[in-house]
Amino acid sequence: MFDSGVGGLTVVRAIRSVLPGEDIVYLGDTARVPYGSKSPRTVERYSLACQQFLLDRGVKLVLIACNTASANALPALVAASPVPVIGAVEPGATSALAATRNGHIGVIGTLGTVRSGAYAKAIAARAPEVQLVALACPLLVPLAEEGWTDDADEIATAVARRYLAQLFARDPLIDTLVLGCTHYPLLRGVLERVASELANRPVAVVDSATAMANAARDALRSAGAPDLARRAAGRLDCFATDATRLDELAPRFLGEARTAMTGFELVDL
Ligand code: DGL
Repeated sequence: MFDSGVGGLTVVRAIRSVLPGEDIVYLGDTARVPYGSKSPRTVERYSLACQQFLLDRGVKLVLIACNTASANALPALVAASPVPVIGAVEPGATSALAATRNGHIGVIGTLGTVRSGAYAKAIAARAPEVQLVALACPLLVPLAEEGWTDDADEIATAVARRYLAQLFARDPLIDTLVLGCTHYPLLRGVLERVASELANRPVAVVDSATAMANAARDALRSAGAPDLARRAAGRLDCFATDATRLDELAPRFLGEARTAMTGFELVDL
């Protein structure tokens, strides 16, 4: 699995709960994070280098934890990989379509993810009648990294309200909000509360992580990989391209699964 940085560890959590016996190789491209503000061409180039690093380690499946990389580089990554590649966008769209009751979906993500239109395309391909509005929320990544994520945090609440008010102004009927970024699950409580306040009714908040884990399980099954469900907990080997703030940030995103982590090894791509 790779991500632009450590945010993708939120996806590691989900993978470890659905596929606990699998060994995971995680690469965070911390030297070049953020991807969210970069051009599609640059994101594609960085993503190909990340994927090659994993392929060189003999992985049987590649998971793109990063929404920005998934939204901008999936076709190039699939073309360059001899093993199956699963991005974050399709699973996120699956979760959203399963959750919506009225067919009004809001998506929030980085600039790169929103500009790509990837969620709109994924949803339109499966449910053309669904209405989707998407909004870039660049301040949410630094908030999550600072740890200002508490449900009652006044700054997180104010930022969430400023962004989500724009989203609900565009479609007041939104009943499902997709967290289209690795970092946003840390702000789930605030986002859910503010969205529900703005809508005046409960809004379902979904992300890609669990649906990605289910897609990974299905891909491994259909590739005939042995079922490791009953094996003892798998290894979690983490690599990164820069060490800055790793020790502070990684545990925040990994949550309970951090006991499985042995630390980061620094690599050059
Ligand atoms: N991992 C990115 C994503 O999910 C967020 C951080 C970044 O901009 O690189 O879109």
